[in-house]
Amino acid sequence: MKDLLGQALLDYQNGNYTQDLITSTNISDEDSLPLPYLFRTFKDMPKLEQKALKLAKGHVLDVGCGAGGHSLYLQDKGFAVKSIDISEGAIAVCKARGLDKAKVASILDETAQFDTILLLMNGTGIFQKLSYVTKYLSHLKSLLKPNGQILIDSSDIQYMYEDEDGGLWIDTNANYYGELDYFLSYKGQKEAPLTWLYLDFNTLKTACLTVGLHCENILEGEHFDYLAKLTLSE
Ligand SMILES: C[S@@+](CC[C@H](N)C(=O)[O-])C[C@H]1O[C@@H](n2cnc3c(N)ncnc32)[C@H](O)[C@@H]1O
Repeated sequence: MKDLLGQALLDYQNGNYTQDLITSTNISDEDSLPLPYLFRTFKDMPKLEQKALKLAKGHVLDVGCGAGGHSLYLQDKGFAVKSIDISEGAIAVCKARGLDKAKVASILDETAQFDTILLLMNGTGIFQKLSYVTKYLSHLKSLLKPNGQILIDSSDIQYMYEDEDGGLWIDTNANYYGELDYFLSYKGQKEAPLTWLYLDFNTLKTACLTVGLHCENILEGEHFDYLAKLTLSE
């Protein structure tokens, strides 16, 4: 990984903002991901993220924290927050912004237990593939304190497969429709392709059942997106 995301975050943090990230997927054209969005404060966050932050309690783990906006909001409110990301640049930015507990780590390497685990801005993306979902969920479950909660958002992207007449062109022999190849470039350089998973609520709920997690749809967004709360099944 070249860590172009981290480079872009560092550029923005250091006052060298000249270009945005460019993203595309195997089913969509190029789009820009404005760097200021990755530094959004509470008032500019989507309602689903605001709701997740309002529900936070106790010791918090922010998984895939990026530039750390969610962690900073909670830290400012007095919560103890650990922020992790696989991007070295992102963690350098988090530290520069005052998140002392920020650490370069993958969620699968985390071993401590928390009251709240946040995975925001399509948090299921980190699972990469439908076939990995139960592995990630089982691991996340092992990181929960007895009354802990996982707050995770995603979208049902079936709408992206609709043609102009409202028909669907999903290939039923292909992988799950939310499993996308994701391409990112910055300042003319291309990142190694990623697999990024958008998971519809019912599929998430079914996967949760198989690992012993209760899954509740807390809030629907404006565009097929949702915030789910996962807790230990009784
Ligand atoms: C879409 S960004 C979201 C950033 C931030 N949560 C936000 O809302 O602005 C996803 C982040 O997850 C990180 N990430 C991807 N896989 C990860 C993993 N296995 N463990 C921890 N972080 C991961 C990426 O480096 C990236 O910073």
